[in-house]
Amino acid sequence: MSQTQAIKVENLNKSFGTGDAFVDVIKDANFTINKGELVALIAPSGAGKTTLLMMLGCVNEPNSGTMWLGDEKVYEDKWLTKKTREIRREKIGFIFQAHYLIPFLNIIDNLTLLPQANKVKDSDSQKKARELLQYFDILEKETAMPSQLSGGQNQRVAIARALMNDPQIILADEPTAALDMDRSISVVKMLKKIAQEQNVAIIMVTHDDRMLQYCDRIMKIENKGIVFQ
Ligand SMILES: Nc1ncnc2c1ncn2[C@@H]1O[C@H](COP(=O)(O)OP(=O)(O)O)[C@@H](O)[C@H]1O
Ligand SMILES: [Mg+2]
Repeated sequence: MSQTQAIKVENLNKSFGTGDAFVDVIKDANFTINKGELVALIAPSGAGKTTLLMMLGCVNEPNSGTMWLGDEKVYEDKWLTKKTREIRREKIGFIFQAHYLIPFLNIIDNLTLLPQANKVKDSDSQKKARELLQYFDILEKETAMPSQLSGGQNQRVAIARALMNDPQIILADEPTAALDMDRSISVVKMLKKIAQEQNVAIIMVTHDDRMLQYCDRIMKIENKGIVFQ
């Protein structure tokens, strides 16, 4: 097993529904993504980008195939060994199009909410949150409310939040969709830096070709399969 492998899938399939409502979304996907890589995921709307991320993030169950996260085989025609919730908690960070910070909690409380729910010691999660806010150059906003931050700052907080559990994999579904060009570039460069410095694999869905130059590889969904460009 490779030291550098973050995600590997073999013959992964996903469809929804049965009979007239049957839709085949991903067919026989085969690929490996390494630690430290920022990979762009591009495809037309409805092609299955979110569906793929949700499978990799152990949110939606594939129909068949094999999937490894790091060196751990987590799926082989069914989920293996652990609860998917634990796998997500240990390995995965999620970033979404809108930042989805909780509006009535300040920045630091937004970061520590999930760790608290997962029974991480308060002092540990506070320390981690402050380190991340420092890293993203927004520590002075720790007691501000999300409404007092710009869109770009909120998205940085959302990225910081995705790093709270030291994930090996970050799944970002159109993280720059709500941002202007400059802020989008700044977010993508930040993701690139995280991938390199923290040796995290990041898959980022984007519709903006201008972001592709900052990514290590470009992954496409074509005819329901995965191809690299
Ligand atoms: N829960 C679901 N039930 C049925 N069909 C779904 C569900 N989620 C997604 N789909 C279908 O899967 C296809 C891919 O959707 P999606 O992954 O959201 O595409 P994208 O993110 O590339 O726009 C679409 O045809 C969509 O209608
Ligand atoms: Mg989508």
